[in-house]
Amino acid sequence: MPSITTRHFLQTAGTLLAGLVLVACSKQEPPAPAASTPAASAPAPAARVYVVGTDAAYAPFESQNEKGEIVGFDVDVVKAVAQKAGIEVKFVNTPWEGIFNSVAQGDRDLLVSAITITNERKQTLDFSEPYFDAQQLIAVKKDSKITKFADLKKLKVGVQNGTTGDEVVAKLQGKDSANIKRFESTPLALKELEAGGVEAVVADNGVVVNYVNNNADAKFKTISDTSFAAEQYGLAVKKGNAELLAKLNKGLADIKADGSYNQIYAKYFGAAPMPAAVAKAPAGAASK
Ligand code: ARG
Repeated sequence: MPSITTRHFLQTAGTLLAGLVLVACSKQEPPAPAASTPAASAPAPAARVYVVGTDAAYAPFESQNEKGEIVGFDVDVVKAVAQKAGIEVKFVNTPWEGIFNSVAQGDRDLLVSAITITNERKQTLDFSEPYFDAQQLIAVKKDSKITKFADLKKLKVGVQNGTTGDEVVAKLQGKDSANIKRFESTPLALKELEAGGVEAVVADNGVVVNYVNNNADAKFKTISDTSFAAEQYGLAVKKGNAELLAKLNKGLADIKADGSYNQIYAKYFGAAPMPAAVAKAPAGAASK
């Protein structure tokens, strides 16, 4: 019964039975918030909508357009996956800080947020098959003397708090280094670079390249470094949610097989994906 969450099953047998009876009688009811009446606590059946959490300040993967809609590569991928999987999804802007908790607590059913699959995160979340290759990239002012990652050892560096960019800089400088300036979002870190508060920003290549290309006034250039490990993005679900994970993996396989993934890729990145080269080509090009 895909329409009822584990949480609901954990309720007492009596409530569950009552709930099932109500499910049968309330097919048209929209999901109601928990309330004192048994009717209100019945799970919404037929039209189960999966809530997708995303930190929508990460163009071109996820951002909000003028109308406040959440748009981007990740959004298109998940919509296409959902269509193949036969599920409905709804995107909810969710700050990066706390995004992993939101799925652990059941406030979100899945996350798409250019999330790098890491061993540490796998302890608390389950990830889909990878859907995108990425790598860290350094942004500096055009007149900067910085040429490689090691140059950042003793400099003020901006990162988005709790990202893989934060992790690599913490490894270089020591995690308690006062020179690491941690921001709530990557655009805020890049604004600080523009304002001169930090000398570099380290973040995902796709986002850095997009920002540099769209903010010529900021006068940034990018620096790639071979010391950065290859990263892969995955969709994340609550640990143990094998049912949803299977649907997502099936949907991902389907969109890769029928060419719709490549179409979405081309819409945002201009060419069909070539593993590994994907990430590096724009970075090198932009740093010239
Ligand atoms: N890929 C990086 C990570 O997983 C950064 C992701 C940040 N995503 C976002 N939407 N803010 O740590």
